[in-house]
Amino acid sequence: MQLLDGKKAAQAIKDELKIDVAQLAAEGKKIPHLAAILVGNNGASETYVGAKVKACEEVGFKSTLIRFEDTISEMKLLEKIQELNTDPDVDGILVQLPLPKHISDDEVINAIDPEKDVDGFHPVNAGKMMQGVPCFVPATPHGIMLLLEHYKVDTKGKHAVVVGRSNIVGRPMSILLSSNSNPGNCTVTVCHSQTKDIKSFCLQADIIVAALGKTEFITADMVKEGAVVIDVGITRVEDAAKKSGFKLKGDVAFDTVAPRCSWITPVPGGVGPMTIAALMKNTYHSCMLRN
Ligand code: GUN
Repeated sequence: MQLLDGKKAAQAIKDELKIDVAQLAAEGKKIPHLAAILVGNNGASETYVGAKVKACEEVGFKSTLIRFEDTISEMKLLEKIQELNTDPDVDGILVQLPLPKHISDDEVINAIDPEKDVDGFHPVNAGKMMQGVPCFVPATPHGIMLLLEHYKVDTKGKHAVVVGRSNIVGRPMSILLSSNSNPGNCTVTVCHSQTKDIKSFCLQADIIVAALGKTEFITADMVKEGAVVIDVGITRVEDAAKKSGFKLKGDVAFDTVAPRCSWITPVPGGVGPMTIAALMKNTYHSCMLRN
């Protein structure tokens, strides 16, 4: 078993970006600027947005964190997005999800200028991804593709089973893995909450992407010997022994699944850091396209 070390691969990507940004600065050119909006004080969202802002600092990007109380109206949030859309200094806009119930995710995502939609959630980017034309690809599936590329995992002709069909991970992941690209060129099966006998599909998989948000759902008896296992789960579970009061658990029972795998991602330190590296790449790319 070999570890798909997302921390290491993400660092390599950030180190490259750091050199590119230093070059831009040395030439007196504009440096990338990410604006992140956080509504409310959900602990996990705070952590994720904090990590995104920190990564910007690390690679030399400018970042702006905009915080709102969870009582903010949808209208006020949309106004802020409009302001960021027209601000020529801002290259990337992200609104951390989930949003409070009285705000429509779709209205908010649709309001972001597709050319600044570094999360790749806008229907224009989703449509372009479907067509296989250049666009912003959602950070988590993009990060997974970068991880497979970094470790030169052979995906051509393999059977990939994606467990989960969310707009953020499962669905885009299934499109990318089935694309005529490297990594890619997989035969893809998408399993979801209504799939009968998920185990029978997983047992046929050369590659499993677990993105359903249920801790330790994928167990050793569901995994074929030699499979590649990508764990997207990051559920917080209480742990009094930890200073934070919780630990992160994946969707894969790592200890028993790992010995069966050719490659597997750990949690934490697998997909999480790659998501952030991919967001940094998208933001850099946006800056390059806009200037
Ligand atoms: N919530 C969970 N994942 C994501 C993500 O990739 N981007 C944003 N904006 N919110 C999220």
